[in-house]
Amino acid sequence: MDRIPVAGPWITQKEIDYVVDAASHAWYENANMYHERFEKAFSHYIGTKYAMALPSCTSAIHLSLLALGIEKGDEVIVPDLTWIATAAPITYVSATPVFADCDGKTWCISSDAFQECITPGTKAVIPVDLYGNMPEMDAIRDIAHDHGIAIIEDAAEAIGSEYHGKRSGSFGNTGVFSFHGSKTMTTGEGGMLVTDRKDLYDRCLTLRDHGRAHGEKMFWNAEVGYKYKMSSMQAALGLAQLERIDELVERKRQIFSWYRQNLQSVEGITLNCEPFGTKNSYWMVTAIFDPKFRLSKEDIIRMLKEKGIDSRPFFYPLSSQPAYDSLASVREAKVRNTVSYRISPYGVNLPCGMKMTYEYVNYVCDAVKKVVGVE
Ligand SMILES: Cc1ncc(COP(=O)(O)O)c(C=O)c1O
Repeated sequence: MDRIPVAGPWITQKEIDYVVDAASHAWYENANMYHERFEKAFSHYIGTKYAMALPSCTSAIHLSLLALGIEKGDEVIVPDLTWIATAAPITYVSATPVFADCDGKTWCISSDAFQECITPGTKAVIPVDLYGNMPEMDAIRDIAHDHGIAIIEDAAEAIGSEYHGKRSGSFGNTGVFSFHGSKTMTTGEGGMLVTDRKDLYDRCLTLRDHGRAHGEKMFWNAEVGYKYKMSSMQAALGLAQLERIDELVERKRQIFSWYRQNLQSVEGITLNCEPFGTKNSYWMVTAIFDPKFRLSKEDIIRMLKEKGIDSRPFFYPLSSQPAYDSLASVREAKVRNTVSYRISPYGVNLPCGMKMTYEYVNYVCDAVKKVVGVE
């Protein structure tokens, strides 16, 4: 490797064989054979009744909001620290995102912050299982239940994570996953929506097929919908990856354990945590650097780059982004969300692609220590 990449998949002959088979045979009456196998295996793995393969996690969030009837005038609470894909579909349905602060340990939405953001207009919350960690799901579910607020669990980054023995993605009215090439399991681009509710599942089936209800005659559309489908080749790749999911998640946990061994004794560097009762699948190994080092995340990324190491900045608070400048509530969020604004400037995602080795991790850790001047 010329450079150490920050993320990347682990593809074996099994994946190649499945994709070749799909390209050769998944046509005509077999056009859906890989979708059916992938969705069935996925819902079984997550522990939900239904799973729907989609072109992206973003489309899964979009469909979830539509199926839940979220519309103009409604508010949807999301964590301030997440990728914009969590929040963008709220704008697609003309509703308003409200950015809640994060918990200082898990970096996921804090249940207190969620509660604080609730107004009579709140219709849904999208907790994010950030970098593979899990928010306080019991508290979030209780609060949401008490206020009649729907939950869309954004598990894009957290396949294989668990909270008190229950798999990520199974905590909301819907759960959504991403299979982007950087994720623990990939279909190149792709996503999945899971749910236990037949009404939501049926509604999503209609919406993602240009408004044609499942079983309706061909080319007969009751409403204007969307074209959100995954190809057979992607479904085949996803099935092969899913059949290796334990191995993939274990590899992520192993890579993280190498980082922890090496960096845990360095004062001023905080790595991802794994709270009691949570299994963290550690999608992104992330370090928060103490401001005492007087280095911003951009400084650290630049200095690692000079050593052939790619890394990424911790997400910028959504309330700080030009995309949301015109939103009235961001002025308040900027002041209120102190944890998000404290963590984000000093957080860096370190290389943790599936091909990382013990030697590469140690090379990165040595470079990190040199950068902050502790070795
Ligand atoms: C937290 C989160 N939500 C949603 C998404 C969107 O996923 P996709 O790129 O599959 O639409 C991502 C992707 O990186 C993500 O990290």
